[in-house]
Amino acid sequence: MESAATLLIEQARQVRQRASAPYSRFFVGSALEADQGRIFTGCNIENASYGLTVCAERVAAFKAVSEGCRQFTRIAIVTEIEVGTPPCGACCQVLWELCGNLEVILANVDTWIETVQLKDLLPRPFHASFL
Ligand code: THU
Repeated sequence: MESAATLLIEQARQVRQRASAPYSRFFVGSALEADQGRIFTGCNIENASYGLTVCAERVAAFKAVSEGCRQFTRIAIVTEIEVGTPPCGACCQVLWELCGNLEVILANVDTWIETVQLKDLLPRPFHASFL
């Protein structure tokens, strides 16, 4: 694997350690790569009012957009399980709208697992053109 992708996975592993997931105990880290190589990380942050939980991917995307980034290339997502953990439907929708067709790198704490395209995870997105 190319070194920039390895770095992205490593950043997702690091931020995963800051996940606040006392209810599910499912800790997620993500690292979103923007233009010029800037990286925005995110972890899941749960709430006792469960529906207020925010996923790692949306934290990263919102941080990036709030810092003025609008061009993105790929996102790494790290959990501890052996199968790749794709972004949930809500995150796919948000990532699609804010970031376009990202390369989605799925990894765990030990290894890279697979790389997929966001358009294949969300083949028929709702889009602003419908409004
Ligand atoms: N979670 C994420 O952070 N990303 C996803 O795409 C799926 C789920 C989090 C939300 C919750 O804190 C925990 O994983 C279990 O659903």
